[in-house]
Amino acid sequence: MKKIIALLVLSVLAFSVPASADWLKFTGSPHFLPAPLMVVGAYTPEGQANFGVFHRGGVLSSGKDGGPMRIGFGIKGNAEKSFTYQIIKTSGVCTVNLPSIKYLAETDLLGSFSGKAPGGEFQDKLKVTGLTAVRGSEVNAPMIEEFPVSLECELEEDIAIAPDSKSRLMILKVRKVWADEAYLDANGKINPMAKEGGDSSLAFFSHSHGKNGGYFGYGDFLGKSGKVSERFLETK
Ligand SMILES: Cc1cc2nc3c(=O)[nH]c(=O)nc-3n(C[C@H](O)[C@H](O)[C@H](O)COP(=O)(O)O)c2cc1C
Repeated sequence: MKKIIALLVLSVLAFSVPASADWLKFTGSPHFLPAPLMVVGAYTPEGQANFGVFHRGGVLSSGKDGGPMRIGFGIKGNAEKSFTYQIIKTSGVCTVNLPSIKYLAETDLLGSFSGKAPGGEFQDKLKVTGLTAVRGSEVNAPMIEEFPVSLECELEEDIAIAPDSKSRLMILKVRKVWADEAYLDANGKINPMAKEGGDSSLAFFSHSHGKNGGYFGYGDFLGKSGKVSERFLETK
């Protein structure tokens, strides 16, 4: 019965609202979803700093409920082959660094080749980009000095994305957050857009531009959450 009702509703929609039929045509991946650009840093057992770029992920819990703030990122394909995965599994810690749009080229480079060459030797990505690594104060992992925001993290869990998948979701406990003053407001909160004198905006990622996706800066501030709906209700 439910099926028949659903079919009836769908056919009514199909005839009365052509636009909905258009969006139902989309069968691509959810990669177009706007995502943070997370540059994950870790030391090899020999103390070499490596950074990989990740956009699958974000905030998992805010820490407002008394527990720690948690963030996560996903490692695609066979994660065992990922250099970032291998070194975080050994060290148990990492950093998540957020680039500003000023450092897009460097970020793109960090995500375009591995810190581990096919022969197994270390490839120094930082040397190519000219960026500076600084050791965290809470965890033994490298941060990128030039990036406006860095989070020092501890690996809490490493779980398969699905039972039959080799891709992994890395769940991280945030131990410390660093931010460039230009990105802090009067209440000490981090804003995605810098104040005057800063280097403009944090960068994020979406697969909306062509095959490999592309980078974006933040746009206009449109209103505070909770307040935008208040204004909407006042006009009703
Ligand atoms: C913009 C961008 C986003 C990326 N997002 C992911 C991701 O979410 N998950 C993933 O496994 N790889 C992602 N990659 C690919 C890795 O960054 C890339 O494989 C990198 O070489 C890993 O470095 P490593 O081998 O030194 O760990 C992304 C690359 C770029 C440029």
